[in-house]
Amino acid sequence: MGNGLRFVLLALLLTLAGKPVQGSDAERDEAIAAFIMGLPKTELHIHLEGTLEAEDYLALMARNGRESSYADAAAVRDRLTYARDLDTFIEVYEELLGAMQTAYDFEQVAMTYIERVAAQGVVYVEMFFDPQMHTYRGIPLETVMEGLYRAHERAPVEYGVELWFIACFNRDRSAASALMHLVALAPYQDIIIGVGLDNPEEIGFPEKFATVFARAAAMGFRRTTHLDVDVPNTLEHHWSALRLLDIERIDHGLNVADDPELMTAVREAGIALTACPTLLYRDIPGRLEGRLARIRTLLEAGIEISLHSDDPGLMRDLYVGDLYVLAQNEGGFTREEIVALARNSLLSAWVEEAQRSVWLEAFDAWLAEHPIAF
Ligand code: ADE
Ligand code: ZN
Repeated sequence: MGNGLRFVLLALLLTLAGKPVQGSDAERDEAIAAFIMGLPKTELHIHLEGTLEAEDYLALMARNGRESSYADAAAVRDRLTYARDLDTFIEVYEELLGAMQTAYDFEQVAMTYIERVAAQGVVYVEMFFDPQMHTYRGIPLETVMEGLYRAHERAPVEYGVELWFIACFNRDRSAASALMHLVALAPYQDIIIGVGLDNPEEIGFPEKFATVFARAAAMGFRRTTHLDVDVPNTLEHHWSALRLLDIERIDHGLNVADDPELMTAVREAGIALTACPTLLYRDIPGRLEGRLARIRTLLEAGIEISLHSDDPGLMRDLYVGDLYVLAQNEGGFTREEIVALARNSLLSAWVEEAQRSVWLEAFDAWLAEHPIAF
């Protein structure tokens, strides 16, 4: 083989396999992060109320003329530092969301979040919100929805990001309350595309929501549920949720990796997982590594899993693009794995196939234009 031909073949191979980055470690990290951030992706597991950063909470309190029990943002963060388990976290979550009072507050909180992720390759967001947490403290659903409508209209125009909503019912409240709220959501189905279940997994979950979810399906809502990580009876809850709730996605669901039969059932049912590697306190030794290991196992098992941020504001965490970078840095995820996770985030979105095709084309173009290897 002549030298010229050898060179051409080598160049072709490098292009196919991806180009190693030249330069220092820092330059290499930067180039990988830029590639990951630019990958088109969706955010499908984000709670409106959990996007509040400490400073956002204090600004809302001040704007609404309310006195906060926290002296400053550091004090809010300090409180959150002790929210290491789901029950305590939800206590703080409920306390801080009390800062949101007006339709403008809801609009602004949603838009602030969109602004924060627009530069991270996010093309589409399905945002959870908790209607019960607002109505029970006297904020009418109409007020919440007025703000969310405005954000839904503004996000694509101002940031090129689509924004839709999923209403979550709280698992520690009654099925009757969920049903009452479900009926009240009907006029807003043009922007609320699905229902979910969140808050701590109480006794009776998931059975107690079977009727609510059947009704939601009949109304045309898509369906997902939180199945939190390492909670008591989690495998039993997974199996019952599959049997009784007719779910299309699972939020978290990392314990699926613990049961090979469950892995098969989830894969065969085409149920997607929205995994949150930094859920709750990521600094507990071994926690992040354990989550990333399960995410890898589930990905290798052919399950449609992708990365999401859950409550990035309150958990002082990372936004969705940052999480893909984290998986690469801390979990050693390869280009192929990162690409598979991000592609899954497009596949798992509740959109028309025509929309998905447009995204996938842009996705493949980004890959072709950035043959960086890692
Ligand atoms: N509400 C907000 N984040 C949640 C989570 N990870 N699990 C259950 N409920 C939540
Ligand atoms: Zn969540």
